[in-house]
Amino acid sequence: MLREECTEVTQFNKELGTLLNNMAETMYHNDGAGLAAPQIGVTQRIFLIDVSHDNSALTEFINPKIISAEGSYVYEEGCLSIPSYREKVKRSQKVTVEAQDRKGEVFHFQGEDVAAVAIQHELDHLNGVLFIDHLSRIKKELFKTWWKKQSA
Ligand code: CO
Repeated sequence: MLREECTEVTQFNKELGTLLNNMAETMYHNDGAGLAAPQIGVTQRIFLIDVSHDNSALTEFINPKIISAEGSYVYEEGCLSIPSYREKVKRSQKVTVEAQDRKGEVFHFQGEDVAAVAIQHELDHLNGVLFIDHLSRIKKELFKTWWKKQSA
């Protein structure tokens, strides 16, 4: 499921609201800075982020597209779908996203540093991409070894 390409959201209804509420609850419960719908088994183009320290900056992105990206930024990432593994990934430092909110209204959002990382990480999930896919060949091998040990 985590490797699937997610589909566009076309219905901005009550069910979508319920799904978004459940996603926020799951993200906060796991102390995550972001969560994408496929992580809870829903293969639709939805993610949310909150990179604040007090759960005060929840932003919901539906059918998101990065419309500009600049700079580079290295951050040690983790993922709720790959528990207790963290590794540094290089991404854009600043991104501007166009997305829809839960009512279907189009909005623009600019994220820098950790917010830019969270956006790029979560948007990857909608295309079946995980942060480990961005690692160097050597780090990927180290990850595979580590993962086999975890699941043994
Ligand atoms: Co993730």
